[in-house]
Amino acid sequence: MEATQYCMKKNSHDSTNSIMKLFFLWTIKLFKVGSKKDLQIEDLFGPKTKDKSTNIGLELTRHWNTEVSRCLKKINENKDRDPIKLPKPSLFRVLFFTFKWEFVFLGMLGFFNEVVSRLSQPILLGILLSYFRPVPLIPIEHALYAAGALVLMNLMTAISSLKLSATALGDSTPGKVVNLLSNDVNRFDLSAFFVHFLWLAPLAALVTLVLLFQEVGVAGILGVAVVFIVMPLQSYTGTLSARFRLQTAIRTDERVRLMNEIISGVQVIKMYTWEIPFTHIDHKKSRTSVKITKGNAKWGASEVASTLQDIDIEILKGKLVGIIGPVGSGKSSLLQTILGELNLESGSIEINGKISYASQEPWVFGSTVRQNILFGLPYDDFRYNEVVRVCSLQKDFQQFSNGDQTLVGDKGSSLSGGQKARINLARAVYREADIYLLDDPLSAVDAHVGRQLYDKCVRTHLRNKTRLLVTHQLHYLTNADHIIIMENVTIFYLF
Ligand SMILES: Nc1ncnc2c1ncn2[C@@H]1O[C@H](COP(=O)(O)OP(=O)(O)OP(=O)(O)O)[C@@H](O)[C@H]1O
Ligand SMILES: [Mg+2]
Repeated sequence: MEATQYCMKKNSHDSTNSIMKLFFLWTIKLFKVGSKKDLQIEDLFGPKTKDKSTNIGLELTRHWNTEVSRCLKKINENKDRDPIKLPKPSLFRVLFFTFKWEFVFLGMLGFFNEVVSRLSQPILLGILLSYFRPVPLIPIEHALYAAGALVLMNLMTAISSLKLSATALGDSTPGKVVNLLSNDVNRFDLSAFFVHFLWLAPLAALVTLVLLFQEVGVAGILGVAVVFIVMPLQSYTGTLSARFRLQTAIRTDERVRLMNEIISGVQVIKMYTWEIPFTHIDHKKSRTSVKITKGNAKWGASEVASTLQDIDIEILKGKLVGIIGPVGSGKSSLLQTILGELNLESGSIEINGKISYASQEPWVFGSTVRQNILFGLPYDDFRYNEVVRVCSLQKDFQQFSNGDQTLVGDKGSSLSGGQKARINLARAVYREADIYLLDDPLSAVDAHVGRQLYDKCVRTHLRNKTRLLVTHQLHYLTNADHIIIMENVTIFYLF
């Protein structure tokens, strides 16, 4: 990897006077350059000498060593103490001692900003306004002093805010780099500033309370009391939000980790062309395709009798399951339940895999035969021809005026019941799925074509898929893996 090293200019903050530092005038040169052209990395200053990572690192190491020796000394003094209670070096102590003056300075600025300046402004404004009453309460000199003090306070607040943000957010270049690199470090940085609010906020509240009492008496205290009463609620919501943030962070970490694993995993799988074996592993993960436990369902809420009653089935992956039973016994309704069209009133259903469905009533829409089979999916020459072959549609295509480009549906040629049934089946088979629900596809074709469809399509072409085949032609089912017999809305026998 190519590394670029920039020789940065010396930071002019180191060699400038206090006034320039206070009003940030030392940055003007940089603004001038920036107004003429886009700033490049070479235009920027390096960090201040005292903020250079080497200097900070050395200082941090020195304090860390002191902390370690302090702990060792304590351990030597109390040799027979419980090892769990022995003192451990504290990083927080080390950080505090390394940056103590910056920390204290930050606290002082915070005090000036939050307590002195913020609270004195309304008082000064009050004094100023009292001059503008019909009968002025103060002489003009006092009003002018108040106005001047107000302007000064605002100016000082602006400067101290600048100073605060500059100090708190890390004006050192390494600090900025780390900020960019890690969001968490940014939060850690901010906490150095916000920790001062632990003492600033109660102090500001106390001063406000005194001022309010002076101005409005007991009513003011009542107002503040309400704020204090609401405080536990606020602290509770704060704790809740912290807990949720932690959970979010854990989930985010987990998601990023998983995505990393997936991406690196995909690279390895692609590199060794392991796609096919891995697809099989994925499919074998769960052995069950459909499981219905104690399922009860009816089509209309007003209906007294259930359409399906006490259904308990488990259909294993890759199996051919025949569903038979008299007219109206609920065979189609069972498929509708698996499709999610008929909801269970009680019981549970678990489906693992993508479903494709051929309805009992074959249907076509006004378009070409090919579009009726593709049904919006992209055309795959090999797959399409294979589906046409196993659904015994080749001969029909030869008979059609335009082959599979013949228009069918309302305005096109009319199809025979058997042709419609096979187009209906081909549409379901063309769709790549794990579970194929075939509702009586063999009923509208003659015995010869029916046998072809069963052997070529259901048994051979779909051999690795889970197939639920509703049929009245029991003789096909001699080689089905399982047979479900529906009798009077429930499963009568299953083997
Ligand atoms: N879409 C529907 N809306 C309302 N009731 C329905 C619907 N489909 C089926 N039923 C009702 O559910 C019951 C079971 O019908 P279903 O169609 O499931 O039987 P089947 O075993 O598939 O019959 P067939 O062998 O004639 O196809 C019947 O009483 C029927 O009236
Ligand atoms: Mg039916």
